[in-house]
Amino acid sequence: MATNQMWGGRFEKGNSADVVAFNASISFDQRLAKHDLKGSIAHAKMLTHTKILSETEGAQIAGGLEKLLKKLTEGELTFSDTFEDIHMNIEHLLQQEIGDVAGKLHTARSRNDQTATDMHLFMKDETVQIIALLDDLLNVVVTKADANVNTLMAGYTHLQHAQPISYAHYLMAYYEMFTRDKQRFETAYHSTNQSPLGAAALAGTTFPIDREDSAQELGFAGNYQNSIDAVSDRDYLLDFLHAAATLMMHLSRFCEEIIQWNSYEFGYIEISDEFATGSSIMPQKKNPDVAELIRGKTGRVYGSLFSLLTTLKGLPLAYDKDLQEDKEGVFDTIDTVKACVSLFTEMLATIQVKSDKLSASLQDDFSNATELADYLADKGLPFRQAHQVVGKLVHYGIANNLPLQKMSLTQLQEFEPLIADDVYGVLDPENAVARRISLGSTGFEQVKYQIKQAQKS
Ligand code: ARG
Repeated sequence: MATNQMWGGRFEKGNSADVVAFNASISFDQRLAKHDLKGSIAHAKMLTHTKILSETEGAQIAGGLEKLLKKLTEGELTFSDTFEDIHMNIEHLLQQEIGDVAGKLHTARSRNDQTATDMHLFMKDETVQIIALLDDLLNVVVTKADANVNTLMAGYTHLQHAQPISYAHYLMAYYEMFTRDKQRFETAYHSTNQSPLGAAALAGTTFPIDREDSAQELGFAGNYQNSIDAVSDRDYLLDFLHAAATLMMHLSRFCEEIIQWNSYEFGYIEISDEFATGSSIMPQKKNPDVAELIRGKTGRVYGSLFSLLTTLKGLPLAYDKDLQEDKEGVFDTIDTVKACVSLFTEMLATIQVKSDKLSASLQDDFSNATELADYLADKGLPFRQAHQVVGKLVHYGIANNLPLQKMSLTQLQEFEPLIADDVYGVLDPENAVARRISLGSTGFEQVKYQIKQAQKS
């Protein structure tokens, strides 16, 4: 044997140092150490229950693995490139711990189902943590909305003032998006919640294993039904990455608005000092770096999704070493998403809303033009005609620097005699919001209802 690798029996020559380094995944898959140990403990127990291992062997192996788990938490395990990946590193450490009986652990198992098992276990834990962070975020959004039902602002389309809305309604739009994000992570969790263990290399095994036993021990809801699929499937990671990419897109949109609204031109909000930084040259600067970085980091999460999709697209069944590339992008995504969600939540909680500035922006912006058109339609004028009349009034208002609500009744009636004294109530932005009664609209009652529903869930 010219190589002392665990798989070295059929080789005459060893790998060059470059190949060893290129092939090794231990630098990143050591992140799976805890899950690898847990997977191995469950496997050893199952091998014992099914009498594939004797009680003594099983106890020795499980005991050794438990010891390694303890050492791992104490930071006492060291890994090496020589053993390529986390699976062989741990097998080597186990051999050092308990001697040659360690070699029996790999009975009825392959690294192919092992790496898949580790990653499934790891992703379940991480997904649960991300869902908890999203719950915190949702709580902050609702709390802020609840405090701002009566805060008025201009709703935008095309980044132009469109119609008056409640600031809470705007916030609750993000509540809906983040709720769907949470559901997407729950779906990803669901597709991760099945055990590939026992698929072995690809074809299953001749040993009388009990896959139910190990799946249950590991807390999986069930087993992969096809051993080829079990070792080849990375859909569950794509589900996760897609959930992450969509969440980052939502955070990024929100951040874009926070950045704009925090600018001198808008001045609608003030980001707390803790989430901004200064300039090394311009003493007056307070830059929204955290929001910008969240927006910026969205790109790398999209990148990980596309990278894995591309890695998978040409792969013949079953396991190919390409699949080792499934990890780094996912790990990076987990770190990115966790940091972004928790920092965003803190930043949002401490943002100050300048409600005066928000509502002042509604004073001369003609965002009540639709109210006037609806008012005329209500008085019997066909809506198309009403739209024309109000268009002309707006044109006149812009030319004379005169908002609709500041025009005299005579001025208004020159354009349309149907307009009466009751028009001024209709033109008031607060009434424009209050009068909206359709389901899901910005009407105060509707918004309060949405907030109540959210608080209940
Ligand atoms: N480090 C590998 C991975 O992460 C483990 C599986 C290796 N299997 C093999 N047949 N080379 O995918």
